[in-house]
Amino acid sequence: MSASYRFDGQVAVITGAAAGFGLAVATRLAESGACLVMVDRAEQALHEAASKLSGLPVVADVSVESEVDKYVAAAVQAHGRIDLFFNNAGIEGRMAPMTELSVSDFDKVWAVNARGVFMGLRSVLTVMKPQGSGAIVNTASMAAIKGAAAFSPYIASKHAVLGLTKSAALEGAPYGIRVNCVAPGHIDTRMARDLTAQINPSDPEGVFRAVSESVPYGKRYGTAAEVANLVVWLLSSESEYVSGSLHLIDGALNAG
Ligand SMILES: NC(=O)c1ccc[n+]([C@@H]2O[C@H](COP(=O)([O-])OP(=O)(O)OC[C@H]3O[C@@H](n4cnc5c(N)ncnc54)[C@H](O)[C@@H]3O)[C@@H](O)[C@H]2O)c1
Repeated sequence: MSASYRFDGQVAVITGAAAGFGLAVATRLAESGACLVMVDRAEQALHEAASKLSGLPVVADVSVESEVDKYVAAAVQAHGRIDLFFNNAGIEGRMAPMTELSVSDFDKVWAVNARGVFMGLRSVLTVMKPQGSGAIVNTASMAAIKGAAAFSPYIASKHAVLGLTKSAALEGAPYGIRVNCVAPGHIDTRMARDLTAQINPSDPEGVFRAVSESVPYGKRYGTAAEVANLVVWLLSSESEYVSGSLHLIDGALNAG
């Protein structure tokens, strides 16, 4: 699908921009005229992606407060404002039953997926409120609306993203700021491939095939580009009046 709406001159901050959904959204926004501020902790991949898309690379770990402040300050210093925010960086963590997880396993996932999303919202809303406008999309997951055995830190963190989305939407509404979250199902990125390997290290391809078969629409994983189509729509004025909601993109996996 080609971009049907434009973001000319708008400033977009994207976390997790070096790969997966972040890179796909950055690519779509660059094609549509936005100025990109691309944030990731993977330095080399980030620099390569930013140079291809003419974005400003900011190497930062979204789980560290001073680094969140740093990427937001870099965007404001370079462009004077932030119009669009894709608050997306996340990790899957270790899959194991709760009885086999350490507190540190939990904390690692929580620090990036929940605290990182909170700190990003806090800093970006501080910039957007005086502007009186802005659109934000947080990356949740279908893990925000259901449980899964052996995946509790990730499940809890994505439920937190939904709660943060709703709260931020209510806080942003009086200032003309919309906040939504996307809830992808199985999408073929590095993260999804890592999970197949955690589920069965001796046959990740077999897990990949079985998961594909379980998806009602198309019997396949989704693509990062398909997620980007939804995110870019939510960031655009085409979705005016849509705020505070979760948007599944899962090939009908959770429809039953
Ligand atoms: N792939 C899926 O099936 C799927 C499904 C639902 C939700 N998600 C969510 O989508 C988001 C993106 O995942 P993806 O599939 O594109 O994964 P990915 O691993 O391909 O990309 C994630 C990017 O985020 C970066 N990142 C990770 N931790 C970071 C940190 N602390 N600070 C800065 N950058 C960091 C990584 O370096 C990487 O470039 C995540 O929040 C993930 O939980 C993924």
